[in-house]
Amino acid sequence: MRKAIKARIAVFVSGGGSNLQALIDQSGKTLKSGVITLVVADRPCSARERARNAGIPFAEIQRGPDFEEKALAILQERKIDLVILAGFLSILSAEFVSVYKDRIINIHPSLIPAFAGPGYYGLRVHRAALKRGVQITGATVHIVNEIPDGGPIILQKAVAVRKHDTPETLQLRVLKEAEWVILPKAAEMVSKAIVKGEPTWK
Ligand code: GAR
Repeated sequence: MRKAIKARIAVFVSGGGSNLQALIDQSGKTLKSGVITLVVADRPCSARERARNAGIPFAEIQRGPDFEEKALAILQERKIDLVILAGFLSILSAEFVSVYKDRIINIHPSLIPAFAGPGYYGLRVHRAALKRGVQITGATVHIVNEIPDGGPIILQKAVAVRKHDTPETLQLRVLKEAEWVILPKAAEMVSKAIVKGEPTWK
């Protein structure tokens, strides 16, 4: 029997890699149409261990002026179809994005357009949400374009803010209830579209 064709996925990381882990854990389950064939980090980070434990090739390319050139070379060498930014903290240039047009997705820990754009990443997002007093927050997966956090939205999931939340407790609940749920789902939606030769978003 002919093996099913799958989209080849590279996951870009900068930190703990819990979203990478969610993708690994859902491989062959929620994520059926794509396979993670590469993990790229832009700094030393513990996501490396997660890639190693899953037997996925890992490349560390230090952030800096030649990051994109080196990353593009390895993406092309590995015939990558889809790039997933999973806690990746560098901003990619318009030139880089244009090479993988509509084939880069990002997970952001808020309901975009709230608390998004330059300066909003990691705990800062949750600090800003608590400071503003929002009662509902959540996570968003979107297509990456040349505007930071500004591309078309693929999936969102809401999470209730609790009275005694700290940025840390809120961050963990948004990860568990929203990010680890919607990222594998969105990865599957986009991988499936790529395999079928259809647009990755409508
Ligand atoms: C996640 O909450 C992710 O949404 C966020 O960083 C965290 C990484 O956690 N990303 C951003 O803020 C990007 N703007 P992880 O390394 O455990 O997946």
